[in-house]
Amino acid sequence: MPGYAPNATFHCIALFGRLRGRRVWINASVRLVTSDHLENLLHENRHFPPSPEFAEQANASVAMYAEAVGDRMAFWDEQAGRLSWEKRWGTTLDWSNAPFAKWFVGGRINVAVNCVDRHVADGFGDQVAIHFEGEPGDTRAITYRELQDEVSQAANALTALGIEAGDRVAIYLPMIPEAVISMLACARIGAPHSVVFGGFSAEALRSRIDDAEAKLVITSDGGYRRGAPFPLKPAVDEAVADAPTVENVLVVRRTGGEVVWTDKDVWWHELVGSQSTTHDPEYFDSEHPLFILYTSGTTGKPKGILHTSGGYLTQTSYTHNVVFDHKPGKDVYWCTADVGWITGHSYIVYGPLANRATQVLYEGTPDTPHKGRWWEIIEKYRVSILYTAPTAIRTFAKWGREIPNEFDLTSLRLLGSVGEPINPAAWIWYRNVIGGDRCPIVDTWWQTETGAIMISPLPGVTATKPGSAMDPIPGISAVVVDDEGKRVGRSEGGYLILDEPWPAMLRGIWGDNERYVEQYWSRWPDVYFAGDGAKYDREGHIWLLGRVEDVMNVSGHRISTAEVESALVSHDAIAEAAVVGANDDTTGQAIVAFVILRVHADVSEGTVEDIRSHVAKEIGPIAKPKRVMVVNELPKTRSGKIMRRLLRDVAENRSLGDVSTLADPNVMALISDGLNGPSADDD
Ligand code: WT7
Repeated sequence: MPGYAPNATFHCIALFGRLRGRRVWINASVRLVTSDHLENLLHENRHFPPSPEFAEQANASVAMYAEAVGDRMAFWDEQAGRLSWEKRWGTTLDWSNAPFAKWFVGGRINVAVNCVDRHVADGFGDQVAIHFEGEPGDTRAITYRELQDEVSQAANALTALGIEAGDRVAIYLPMIPEAVISMLACARIGAPHSVVFGGFSAEALRSRIDDAEAKLVITSDGGYRRGAPFPLKPAVDEAVADAPTVENVLVVRRTGGEVVWTDKDVWWHELVGSQSTTHDPEYFDSEHPLFILYTSGTTGKPKGILHTSGGYLTQTSYTHNVVFDHKPGKDVYWCTADVGWITGHSYIVYGPLANRATQVLYEGTPDTPHKGRWWEIIEKYRVSILYTAPTAIRTFAKWGREIPNEFDLTSLRLLGSVGEPINPAAWIWYRNVIGGDRCPIVDTWWQTETGAIMISPLPGVTATKPGSAMDPIPGISAVVVDDEGKRVGRSEGGYLILDEPWPAMLRGIWGDNERYVEQYWSRWPDVYFAGDGAKYDREGHIWLLGRVEDVMNVSGHRISTAEVESALVSHDAIAEAAVVGANDDTTGQAIVAFVILRVHADVSEGTVEDIRSHVAKEIGPIAKPKRVMVVNELPKTRSGKIMRRLLRDVAENRSLGDVSTLADPNVMALISDGLNGPSADDD
């Protein structure tokens, strides 16, 4: 067997699986190897082919795969043709200075004109672009014509403040329309924005302002969260006091709360409100920087991921069209991410607006004023496409199906997922409870660095499998390789790499080319690797296994935390699970599981033992957790990723490491409380 260690042994076992609630036998072959490969343990054999009705009207077609393979550059030329260019590009891709790519070389484009003005010019000025829903219940419908007026006013205001093409603007706002308007105004005048998520601290904001040498900060007095106003301006005051590059702070009035005023501060409503609603756009080179977005790295220094214009807009627009099957003027689209993350940049602002979407923008949390808020919003606006994250789906599953069942969700026709592996149990819940067993699910894999979706089913084309992101989309090449960089075979696992440049790829790390090369392009020659493990199933489809640093080594077997978590969540009593490998004298690492039980779960003394046997049954005895800890909460970053590092600290009885990126600082105390609940130690 190519790629296998010589001492590999193979075991064929039968696992219990579930098919529409009935228990069935699933044949599975489990590979136990002592090489560096990932164990390939879980099997999921359910298929959900597209309905003929969906397939018939789908934007995507099976022919696109062959077209893209046949002539990749011609394929991307065609996608770039979705946009309106002032000057057409010459060469599609210049890769002569790899890994620094240039796409659509020589083309000239204005991103904001593509997202706003051209729709008005095409006669769609009265179409609603944004249905804004504030947390307190205030609403605003903004048409494309109104958006054009406000973006033009904001662009004029930026110019009045001395911002020129190339200057960096930091944006630190809640989820309000002004966040979108600010981003588009920056794009319109060629000033790269750096959006900093409103939940970040003054210090995080300061280091990002510093790194980008931002000249202007756009913020607000505050926003609304969990039923109460929260202030934002004090953090900006603190950050700016220490940031010599900042000349002005433009302040949106959102809550009306009191603010301390400094001589750099300017009110948005005074300055932007008094500007002309016309603005003559300038056109920029296809490679003109569009934005910097900071993402966490291994060191303390923020890592500014740089994206440029033509290629980025091409791929976000293309993917929003084929992956979400979006129909302008018909669909109502809702991506629940915050604009502070790449998902918000690519699938709230640039992709959807380039495609003339009508979308919902929601300021608040899912449980304010009640746990049915999202479903109420879907019912109210007749949302047809919903794009959200597995962590949200599992939270809703924990709260119980009674809540969404109270609302009319029949407007939905497509569901998307992003951010982490979606385990089959959550996938099935999403499909049945939210999608009424009728909507295709697209599990989309991508990263801040990739800029746009890379691996995903195509709705109407792909027969999906719960838990799998399936295949690279047409035009994209992604491969699972072994330690030597060689493609692994079916039913084998390894590292997920990208071996062909793609239009929305990052163009570097702001101000640090060396770090860019070293971080992403140095493991194997000419290959992009950003840390994810993956495997092929027996049919050659891709399953994401989480970051390779989230792989455990138990008695020499490499087991992915994602697979054990998935098995745990398929237990009736469990809503959410996080798994870590804790140092163990005998086995190297031992599997420790932290689980949140379902609200309505029947918990008895035997529950923990039952959970452990369940994992053994689903995956094999090797994956049986040594300890199961029942907790009330899990530590997550603000973008919803579980901070396994902190759980490892708990599992290894250490004091906690850096907790500054925790979304909820109280959660570790809650976990300690939870640990007083039932737990099991070994057999
Ligand atoms: C990392 C990137 C891209 C938008 C949100 C996150 C994980 C993302 C999936 C998915 C499994 C996924 C990966 C990736 N991830 N989508 N569908 N299945 N894992 O952006 O913060 O840059 O994180 O999120 O580990 O590398 P990000």
